[in-house]
Amino acid sequence: MTRSSAVAQAHPNIALAKYWGKLDAPGNLPAVPSLSLTLAGMVTTTRVTFESSLPQDVLLLNDAPASRRDTDRVGHLLDHIWPSDKRPRAEVVSTNDFPTAAGLASSASAFAALAVAANRAAGAGRSEAELSDLARRSSASAARSLFGGFVELPAGRTDEADAPAPAASLAAPEHWDLRLVIAVTTTGRKPVGSTEGMNHTAGTSPLYRAWLDAAPGIFARVRRAVMARDFEALGRAAEHSALTMHATAIAAEPGLIYWTGSTVEALAEVRRMRADGLGVYFTVDAGPHVKAITTPAEVAEVKRRLARVPGVQRTIITRPGPGAQLVESRPASEGGG
Ligand code: DP6
Repeated sequence: MTRSSAVAQAHPNIALAKYWGKLDAPGNLPAVPSLSLTLAGMVTTTRVTFESSLPQDVLLLNDAPASRRDTDRVGHLLDHIWPSDKRPRAEVVSTNDFPTAAGLASSASAFAALAVAANRAAGAGRSEAELSDLARRSSASAARSLFGGFVELPAGRTDEADAPAPAASLAAPEHWDLRLVIAVTTTGRKPVGSTEGMNHTAGTSPLYRAWLDAAPGIFARVRRAVMARDFEALGRAAEHSALTMHATAIAAEPGLIYWTGSTVEALAEVRRMRADGLGVYFTVDAGPHVKAITTPAEVAEVKRRLARVPGVQRTIITRPGPGAQLVESRPASEGGG
């Protein structure tokens, strides 16, 4: 029996310029470019153990056995990372210190941590860019969590569908000391997952074409604002990206409404804070939570005001954080143990 294991950690990322929609080509290529901030303050920790005696892959998510579907998704990434086609089965144990699958980008940190841990446990020796490309095939936003700070993921190209398409670092976490306050709102039922939601939007929303036309320009505005550290320009472009994405999804048939009453209350509170002179803007992903973009000087007040919005259950303060990292590794051993 051979056994080798490694543990990695990765942080979620929040897109300031959103990805929503895939190319009509294999490989999970995004139809639009996106730009994100990797967040310290929330972490996924994943241990991958390859073990030749295991009859099948096992996945434990937050201490509970995962569904067959999630286990197969993980197995798929492991197949790509293992250097030959005779891969031993693996036990994967993954925990999040934040709510899973609720629009808090848990799949991004999950697949990024998985790629880094599996790479080491498999002795595959792949580069960060290769791991980002592989993570992208499982969940496009995961490609971005390989890197810290401000990260861009270009749109895929149909004429180069087989070429590697990794995310790339745009600026280190130290480039701009922003704060992002996550207002976790009451969740009624589980939102439609992003893969399903974006495919439904692409297939039925009359606004999808307009989104594809607008997204690259909004991305360019976000990118320029990040490079220039222009807070107001960033906030305006980030809100425009999020609202344009949601408008497109709302116009699907049937419409996808990721917001609850408390989401809208929190958005309104962000605008009221701005009217009161605070530097704060919002973004929202495929879920009901609101993420407020602000500065270190104003974060305490923004948190205080968001926390009293009806339906906001808790607030999490995050800041620019590092990319996915290995935290422990045990090379292959023969004979069990
Ligand atoms: C709204 O990366 O979860 O968070 O590639 O199908 O796994 P798949 O989708 P995923 O979508 C993220 C959508 C978003 C915007 C973003 O993060 O850019």
